Amino acid sequence: MKKRGKGLKRISGIAELKNLRDSIIQSRDPEKIIIRSCLSTGCRAQKSVKVFDVLKTEIEKQHLQDKVEIKKTGCHGFCEMGPIMVIEPANIFYCNVKPQDVTDIIAETIVSGEIVERLLWKDPATKERTVTERELSIYKKQQKIISFNSGKIDPTNIEDYIAVNGYSALAKVFSSMTRAEVVDTVIASGLRGRGGGGFPTGIKWRLCADAPGAVKYIIANGDEGDPGAFMDRSLMEGDPHSIIEGMIIGAYAIGAGQGFLYVREEYPIAIKHLSLAIKQAEELGLLGKDIMGSGFDFSIKINKGAGAFVCGEETALMISIEGKSGTPRSRPPYPAIEGLWGKPSVLNNVESFANITQILLKGSDWYAGIGTNNSKGSKIFSLVGKVNNTGLVEVEMGTTLREIIFDIGGGIKNGKKFKAVQTGGPSGGCIPISRIDMPVDYDSLREVGAIMGSGGMIVMDETSCMVDVARYFLHFLLFESCGKCVPCREGLQQMHEILTNICEGRGEEGDIELLAELAGFMTTASLCGLGGTAGNPVLSTIRYFRNEYEAHIYDKKCKAGVCKNLFEYTINQELCNGCTLCAVKCPEKAISGEKKKPHIIDTAKCIKCGICFSLCKQEAVQVA
Ligand SMILES: Cc1cc2nc3c(=O)[nH]c(=O)nc-3n(C[C@H](O)[C@H](O)[C@H](O)COP(=O)(O)O)c2cc1C
Ligand code: FES
Repeated sequence: MKKRGKGLKRISGIAELKNLRDSIIQSRDPEKIIIRSCLSTGCRAQKSVKVFDVLKTEIEKQHLQDKVEIKKTGCHGFCEMGPIMVIEPANIFYCNVKPQDVTDIIAETIVSGEIVERLLWKDPATKERTVTERELSIYKKQQKIISFNSGKIDPTNIEDYIAVNGYSALAKVFSSMTRAEVVDTVIASGLRGRGGGGFPTGIKWRLCADAPGAVKYIIANGDEGDPGAFMDRSLMEGDPHSIIEGMIIGAYAIGAGQGFLYVREEYPIAIKHLSLAIKQAEELGLLGKDIMGSGFDFSIKINKGAGAFVCGEETALMISIEGKSGTPRSRPPYPAIEGLWGKPSVLNNVESFANITQILLKGSDWYAGIGTNNSKGSKIFSLVGKVNNTGLVEVEMGTTLREIIFDIGGGIKNGKKFKAVQTGGPSGGCIPISRIDMPVDYDSLREVGAIMGSGGMIVMDETSCMVDVARYFLHFLLFESCGKCVPCREGLQQMHEILTNICEGRGEEGDIELLAELAGFMTTASLCGLGGTAGNPVLSTIRYFRNEYEAHIYDKKCKAGVCKNLFEYTINQELCNGCTLCAVKCPEKAISGEKKKPHIIDTAKCIKCGICFSLCKQEAVQVA
């Protein structure tokens, strides 16, 4: 074995990997207190880097380095409560930690073993505080398979990944499996792609493996352009090696010598962690020439995307890697036969690759035993919107929407009523309360007019206008359409115009039918999936919330109080207790009344900013 890097040696077989893992574990002091401090993007936005720096300085100042180790981790999933910190072995979970809290954490928890009560998570419904991470309600119904390491290991340290069985799947593949056996295992697992369409991964691999040609490519899609989605970013930031290991296994299975990781430039931490992981894997002989002494050569390059949504589409992404402007092309030929630079290429989502690592490690039977008949394994969702606990959740396929939104997500914010959940990104659909007990899997979502997409889940309450929601997503798609094909370019323009008219009070009889007709036309005639699925937000809202469209068009009313031309705020004289809060805060001084007596709104002055509506504790301000 040759010496490499900072003392780590090049690994040339399964036994050496095991020895390295054993020596890493043995070198660790089991008595040491470990502080797992989240430095992923969500917590960084809430100043976790500052908290980390203060913590590090303070520990050094108090000469506690021998007793305490601070581990920089990826996302723990409960991003809304950041900065997050977990203290092991007691598993104490602190949230919303500020730099000034560090002194108490060290004095009370590290030195005296006490809990800092105010930093524990408080359930908004029961007001009870939870001490340990494992007891948090947000994690209880989750099944963390792919996101298990994120939040636990230091993603910038390959030793941490190896210590939790990292690269063991790869070692197993090289030591005991033929290429065909790897493909068969992936087919038997039932894994379907996590990037959108849910195409069976193993079948795609077999098509590419069987395609003629000596040069083949494998590509990981980390573009993640869906608004509100951050599953892929968190995975790339928090567990980059799991993706790289999956890619190497895939490359071996299809016979690719070169891989590409396509990541949008707006994800600098993901790019940094992936670049570092590639370098570390190369140093250990896990990437590059003669990987693990197997005779197999494979390397990975990172391609930075410029942030265009359409570049997540597989043909556009490949054209973008080729250095041209990323616009889709028609299929067939499918990329598995003719892809990057015309060569057979496999493109999978980054989460799909992380699944591969687990499947090869634990076997296809284990994997096929999780989930539903046609949707195996687990799925990571970014749960956002009007839900109490927002963050990343990973659940077994088949978990119901109710379990995700109410048991894991803690229900709807501020005691409001659930109205709909939008799944699948901008081309997804809105699912109403009547379907809240449906299982979340590929087929069930399609049946209700939505899609899995890459895992965005936006929860809406009674204050969301479903016509406006459809307009919002259409606006996004219109802006992001590359304009190459007429149905998508013109269809989006027309549909957006009709929706804007409806939202602004100019809706006419026949608009609903015209929208449905245009959406149907775009589905069949568009060049790529962007136009092909763009009708979903419109069709699903018409299907479940037709009454809202009709109220906008015929009654010129928006009952949710969103479309400004179509409602007025009034004050319910019986409910108003004259607290004056609305009058004080109204920027237009449109509210008047005596203290402790019901107030009134001057509708001529009111600009419908909604401040009074959101502030009134008596719910006396109402939409009419
Ligand atoms: C407009 C558009 C955007 C897409 N964006 C992404 C994306 O950001 N990430 C992704 O993995 N797949 C995206 N896809 C799906 C990809 O085309 C492709 O199906 C997927 O990456 C294949 O990987 P999988 O089989 O592992 O799901 C997009 C598709 C369309 C039509
Ligand atoms: S970013 Fe820290 S918990 Fe998600």
